[in-house]
Amino acid sequence: TPEQVDALVAVAADVARRAGALVHGGRPADLRVAATKSSAVDVVTAMDLASEELVRAALAELRPDDGVLGEEGGYRAGGSGVTWVVDPIDGTVNYLYGIPAYAVSLAAVVDPQAAAAGTAPDPATWTVLAGCVHAPAEARTYTAGRGRGARANGRPLRLGPPAPLAECLVGTGFGYVAARRRAQARVLVELLPRVRDIRRAGSAALDLCAVADGRLDLHYERGLQPWDMAAAALVVLEAGGEVRGLRGRPAGSAMAVAGPAERVADLVALLEELGADRDDDA
Ligand code: IPD
Repeated sequence: TPEQVDALVAVAADVARRAGALVHGGRPADLRVAATKSSAVDVVTAMDLASEELVRAALAELRPDDGVLGEEGGYRAGGSGVTWVVDPIDGTVNYLYGIPAYAVSLAAVVDPQAAAAGTAPDPATWTVLAGCVHAPAEARTYTAGRGRGARANGRPLRLGPPAPLAECLVGTGFGYVAARRRAQARVLVELLPRVRDIRRAGSAALDLCAVADGRLDLHYERGLQPWDMAAAALVVLEAGGEVRGLRGRPAGSAMAVAGPAERVADLVALLEELGADRDDDA
C-alpha cells in the first residue's frame, strides 16, 4: 500500500542519514595524511564496514524481520519478504580524496520468486519499493517510493523536456580493470564529440540521482553492482525517467543507461553501435 511504501521511504532516509553522519563525521580532515601513518585505503575500508554495521544494527532495531544484502557483509535472510540493499559508501575514491560526492544508499526490495525459493533477491526479478541516496558532505538526500514520486531534500523531482543528444551533459563511470578502461576510453572517443560534455563525478548512485535532478541529462555506466543503483534507479523512474541496458536487456552490470526515455533510446543505439558492453581482450 502507499502507506507501507511511505513507511519504507522514511526508514531508508532515517537510516541513511544516521550512516551518513557517521561516515561524514568520522572522516579525518585529510585521509592522505592518515595514509602516511598506516594505509588510507584501510581507513576507507574500515569506514565502509562501520557504516554497513550501523545500517544493519539500525534496520535490526526498526525492521527486525527484514533481510539485508550489503556490499560488505553479504546477504542475511529475513522473514518479512522485504530485503534492504545497502551500499555503505558509494564513491569511495571521492571519500578518500575529500571530494564531497559520496553517499550512503539504501533500497527496500521485494522478490517473491526468490523468497519462495529461499534464495537471495535477484536484481533481475526484484521490485524496488523505496530508496534513499544520502550525500552527507553535499547535504543532499534523494528519496523515492514506488508510485509515490522522487524527492531531493523533500522537493519533488520531475524530468524536464529532453534536449537533443548534442546538447546533453552525460555522466559516466569507469571500471577498475585496464582492459575495461581501454574499451571505455574508445567509446568516449566517439561519444565526446557528439554531446555537450562528459562528467565522471565518481558516485554512480549520485550520478543517477543527478539525472533525476536535472544536474545531468544522461548517465551510462558498465560494471555497476546492484547496490550502486537499486535506490538511485528508483529515483530516476519516479522522476519520470528510464533506466535500461543495451540490446533490449534491463539495466544491470553489463550496462545501465539513465535519462528521459527518448534520449535513453538515442544513447542506447549509439552505445550498441560502439559495442560499449564489451571489454577489450588486450
Ligand atoms: C563506485 C562508484 C563509481 C563507479 C564504480 C563504483 P563504490 O562505487 O559508484 O562512480 O564508477 O563503478 O564501483 O566502489 O565507491 O561503492
